Amino acid sequence: MKLLIRQGRFIDPVGGIGGVMDILLEDGRVAVIGSNVDPDGAEIIEAENLIVSSGLVDMHVHLRDPGYTHKETIETGRAAAAAGGFTAVACMPNTRPVCDDAEVVAYILDKAKTPGTRVLPIGALTINEDGEKLTDAAALRGAGAVALSDDGMPVQNANVMRDGLMKASRQHLTVLSHCEDKDMVKNYAVNEGQVSRALGIHGRPAIAEELMVMRDAMLAEETGAAVHICHVSTAKSAAIIRNYKHKGVPITCETCPQYFTLTEEEVQKQGTMARVNPPLRTKADVEGIIAALRDGTIDAIATDHAPHSAEEKAKPLEDAPSGMVGLETALAVTLTALYHTGKLTLSDILRKMTINPASILRVPYGRLAIGNPADVVVFDPDEVWEVEPEKFLSMGRNTPFGGRRLKGKVKYTIVDGRIVYRG
Ligand code: DOR
Ligand code: ZN
Repeated sequence: MKLLIRQGRFIDPVGGIGGVMDILLEDGRVAVIGSNVDPDGAEIIEAENLIVSSGLVDMHVHLRDPGYTHKETIETGRAAAAAGGFTAVACMPNTRPVCDDAEVVAYILDKAKTPGTRVLPIGALTINEDGEKLTDAAALRGAGAVALSDDGMPVQNANVMRDGLMKASRQHLTVLSHCEDKDMVKNYAVNEGQVSRALGIHGRPAIAEELMVMRDAMLAEETGAAVHICHVSTAKSAAIIRNYKHKGVPITCETCPQYFTLTEEEVQKQGTMARVNPPLRTKADVEGIIAALRDGTIDAIATDHAPHSAEEKAKPLEDAPSGMVGLETALAVTLTALYHTGKLTLSDILRKMTINPASILRVPYGRLAIGNPADVVVFDPDEVWEVEPEKFLSMGRNTPFGGRRLKGKVKYTIVDGRIVYRG
């Protein structure tokens, strides 16, 4: 099977290569990158004025299967990912049952073996994400887990985290840490600050995140094991990570589009649609996150795609679940907020959405180069469109970006040399 992507603007953040190129994909691999490539019977995509990049890699999504298939299934999650330009997504283990053994990993991989976006299961760090007993890292890795995490249920016991980091490290697995002190955040719905005060409710303080970021940075320093901080939402969290990176500590981190575009005030406008953990913060935090994206402190942009049903999100603010979908808007929100404003280059954005997350997960994706897997996204960086949640391929409609006009539209998503989405 052959596919020729003709005359697109090729961007490779690793090689620093750009420019108009033809790219030939053959038998699931990148065969040729060059000029005037002979189609020789290949199916042709005319990509003039379109960007051609490695397919996007999302290191943090919730696919809800097994157990919560009224929110999302692996099938609908993969369809949403493909529509968003993602050719690989790493799914968090907070399913029912929790993905804490080889059997659940195998179940997920089996459901995701049809053509489409690759699914990379993340195993739980502790059994049932209870934060007490460590899972069998070797067995999880053997079954195909790419990392370990108790995302959604942050590990509170520092000793468990310390042992978990060391055990994961021996299996060459990165631990992805959701940083929040549970006693400080309880089940509160919003940031602690002017909005929680205006609403007369308790909030989740920034320090609840920052203390855990500091703990994990220190544990990474002490153990030498790789720790990755999930969804950084405060300026001070980013500052701590910057400081530890400068010391050479093996710490990496991600943020999500909601944290560099929205503030806590969004909750007053959109209610439960803007409820997410960690919560939307302040303008100063948004600015701090953007600065940390610019100086390289923040390695990756992930979505934390967290679909919930309309019924669940219709509950009162304090009872509704936290989370927002992101797969179908992430690229466009990022381009609109960071590229079209001149804050980040296309190459830097793509680096944080392809090779960096893939490298942190140690998977062989994220770079469009000869011989590599033929995973590609083709997008128009300038096309304007309006977010219509009812048209999402995800079952989740819980986005805070509904009705927004965004600039940047996915045209083709290609996995293994096969077109899996046409925009
Ligand atoms: O808002 C969130 N939703 N944050 C998490 O960490 C978990 C996620 C979910 O699973 O719904
Ligand atoms: Zn999380």
